[in-house]
Amino acid sequence: MKRVPIVAGNWKMHKTPAEAVDFVSRLKSLLAEYSAVECVVIPPYVALPGVQAELEGTAIKVGAQDVHHEDKGAFTGCVAANMLVGLVEYVVIGHSETRQYLNVTDELVNKKVKQALKFGLKPIIALGENLEQRESGQAEKVCRSQLVAAFNEIPADALPNIVIAYEPIWAIGTGRNAEAGMVNDLLGGTIRGTLAELYGSQAAQAMRIQYGGSVKPANMVEYMSQPDIDGALVGGASLELDSFKDLVRLTLQAKA
Ligand code: 13P
Repeated sequence: MKRVPIVAGNWKMHKTPAEAVDFVSRLKSLLAEYSAVECVVIPPYVALPGVQAELEGTAIKVGAQDVHHEDKGAFTGCVAANMLVGLVEYVVIGHSETRQYLNVTDELVNKKVKQALKFGLKPIIALGENLEQRESGQAEKVCRSQLVAAFNEIPADALPNIVIAYEPIWAIGTGRNAEAGMVNDLLGGTIRGTLAELYGSQAAQAMRIQYGGSVKPANMVEYMSQPDIDGALVGGASLELDSFKDLVRLTLQAKA
């Protein structure tokens, strides 16, 4: 099954609106020749209007880092799905930093996924185990349970609009990236296997699954050469122009 690779830069709490617009104004010419790879930039909320305007008419997509699960209300500091409509195509849901610092539970991940879909936004659902779970042999079990919870009552026809990102917490921002063969086995076995149980093997084969955690140009080919890894969700290495371009270039090279 041929899946379009997807490389997304999650900028977390980096870049002011002006810096973000300046960055994408230069990124768009650097990425113009790599249109066979889907590229997404995921800036902080306040940079979204400027970034969206700057990328209008280009192939580069925009994403948000989170979304609230309710339509509106007294939720200080939060952003609702309808506020993102027209600004982004993608929204990251369940990133481990939101699970850890903002108390986003599995149940909330599921509600956010439903809310994003309701407004035509495409979820990038992030999941992955922590170090203790990895070391005690629970990684597959944890990923499976996060996945099943995230897809609770999600209809099969929504699947083409969803991307999954496997991000083991111990590999995020640590420089300790997960071994590519292990990631491939987990994506192809546990994640695609669970999706196949839920939705059938054809739907599972069609889904795009990214790896995230200390991805950089130096290890990109290793990951992108694996058949079940369909792209990357990248933090630190997506903040520099040359590095972002290299991630995309190497993806195209490895998947060609
Ligand atoms: P790093 O690439 O900085 O390890 O971050 C990964 C990540 O959390 C992307 O969402």
